[in-house]
Amino acid sequence: MSTDTHSDSPAARRRLDQIKAELERHNRLYYLEAAPEISDFEYDALMRELMDLERRFPDLRTPDSPSQRVGGAPLDAFQTVTHRVPMLSIDNTYSPEELREFDDRVRKGLGGESPAYIVELKLDGVAISLRYEKGVLIRGATRGDGVRGDDVTQNVRAIRAVPLRLADGAPESLEVRGEVFMRNAELDRLNKLREESGDEPYRNPRNTTAGTLKLLDSRTVAERRLEFFAYDIAESEGVNIVSHLQTLRDLQAWGLPVNPHHQRCGSMDEVIDACQRWHEKRHTLGYETDGMVVKVDAAAQRQRLGSTAKSPRWVIAYKFPAEVARTRLNNIVVQVGKSGALTPVAEMDPVKLAGTIVKRATLHNFEELAKKDLRLGDTVEVQKAGEIIPQVLRFLPEARPAEAVAYPLPKACPVCGGEVHKDPDGVFLRCLNLSCPAQVKERLEHFASRKAMDIDGLGPALITQLVDKGYVTGPADLYALHADRLCTLDRMAQKSADNLVKAIEASKARPLGRLLFGLGIRHVGAHTAEVLAGHFGHIDAVMAAPADQLQGIPDIGGVVADSIRDFFDTPQNRDLIEKLRSAGVNMEEVLAAAPSGPRPFHGMTFVVTGTLTKYTRDEIHDRIKALGGKAASSVSKSTTYLVAGESAGSKLEKARQLGLAILNEDEFDALAGGNT
Ligand code: IVH
Repeated sequence: MSTDTHSDSPAARRRLDQIKAELERHNRLYYLEAAPEISDFEYDALMRELMDLERRFPDLRTPDSPSQRVGGAPLDAFQTVTHRVPMLSIDNTYSPEELREFDDRVRKGLGGESPAYIVELKLDGVAISLRYEKGVLIRGATRGDGVRGDDVTQNVRAIRAVPLRLADGAPESLEVRGEVFMRNAELDRLNKLREESGDEPYRNPRNTTAGTLKLLDSRTVAERRLEFFAYDIAESEGVNIVSHLQTLRDLQAWGLPVNPHHQRCGSMDEVIDACQRWHEKRHTLGYETDGMVVKVDAAAQRQRLGSTAKSPRWVIAYKFPAEVARTRLNNIVVQVGKSGALTPVAEMDPVKLAGTIVKRATLHNFEELAKKDLRLGDTVEVQKAGEIIPQVLRFLPEARPAEAVAYPLPKACPVCGGEVHKDPDGVFLRCLNLSCPAQVKERLEHFASRKAMDIDGLGPALITQLVDKGYVTGPADLYALHADRLCTLDRMAQKSADNLVKAIEASKARPLGRLLFGLGIRHVGAHTAEVLAGHFGHIDAVMAAPADQLQGIPDIGGVVADSIRDFFDTPQNRDLIEKLRSAGVNMEEVLAAAPSGPRPFHGMTFVVTGTLTKYTRDEIHDRIKALGGKAASSVSKSTTYLVAGESAGSKLEKARQLGLAILNEDEFDALAGGNT
């Protein structure tokens, strides 16, 4: 196609303006009014015509053109955005009684006044914050930890339901909050395509939405039709906010889609009634909702009620009870974990449950399986409670086939055929063969994981190949791998092989805590590993420490101490340490902070409890350690400071009893030498 050089063809300009207006009108009809007039096909044809014209007359292309939703090169990473107003979460309730308790609290907070409430659907998607300046979308950000999120502007622009420009009358400056979500039909459409190309289907709309928003290439975002409903104003200029109902009307008038299913209720009885009606009706929506959100309507009342650090006092979520579905138990397979534990996993006929297709569920251990007395061929009930993985609740006795037999306890490891034993004081059956390929793979995965030795590029698929080919029988073998050998693996080109060797090499320098964690000692999590590293400073000292010495260390109890001893008393494990040592893996504690930096917290032990607003738990622990302090998890006489956030409980209580110094977040910052 040739490019016209004279851009001011009046006919082209007229047609272009016409198409743009048409496309915007159809977007509005589709997303705001749920009353589309044209098919997707016709919409796409208009869009193609627009893009064609813009190609021929590039000067007529404007940033708010519907064609500009997808543009810009794929990103390397998202920038972090600090929210100007934090994105708080909301408290949950699960029963009408709890809703009444909320109502009591609200009325008490309002000195006896009875508020009106707005009841809305709790959309099961991903929260988003959109900023408009002079009516133009300038930023979209995810919630993140509530204080800081990811800048996903490019992706948000690719969502057709999000207006790039607001209608006349919108405020000069506006930050709106809402939910990005995916309709069930769209998930089905995507899954059909995936099936055709042999990919695993996506499990549920919410995770797919979250995954889509995290894509670095906005073209793929545009191909999946995400939607958006606005439900709150976080900040606005020159808007007199009187009530939530008015806010919803304003948002809609400015061109932002608002979910139509909201209602004003004059009493808690009405609220409960609305919640119960939606519980029954929710499957007719075509998108997922996991409950209702109940909000005080009047802005003045909201202001009087205020917020805790975590959530506003004028809003509450009512979560629908977990869903239960019935399906057939076809098979039980046994998985072997990194310390040899045998886990039975149920394989079932795929069944839809709370928006996901469920076909596998862990049965935890064989004792649990025996207790539930599940047999192949049984009809079982599976439950999904909120975010949690599906659970097999029970079998239906009336549907049990006569020939169904109990699943036999494995006498040998299903992977290596080795001996299995039951934990003397536990419930797990364990494969005792430390060289069992299943265990070796799991241990390698753990060793290479981000919080351990952080070997970039060494994932499960590669590990499986390395173990199956006999190239690697344990972590130490990784350090002897050459790029030439790696190149013989499936889908491994020279460049990736070189990168992997580099990543393995780089892991040799990880601090001792990471190594101790990476070894996969039972009961030694990342935190305990760091405590050990900080206390002993060298792996030889850890290996030599008797159980009672280990037990004397804060946060290390008897079970953990025994497990550590057990690990280092096992000849194969001692052998592993020696091999790692000769491969050049660091065995000493390397201080995370620049050793020359100030260490004002030297000799101090901090315990952090409750919900913080400025730091995640990892961040504050890192800060404490960077300044030379120790971060412990339980309060004792040797605790120097307790840092208490919102809703701190028993630890705060104990610290008070012991008369310890207690800091809030700001006081902690001041002690740490200012907020960084
Ligand atoms: S209002 C300060 N309204 O539920 C109040 N939230 O923790 C802000 N959600 O992640 C939230 N539908 O993304 C509100 N109609 C609705 C909602 C809603 C879904 C999500 C929100 C947040 C979570 C609550």
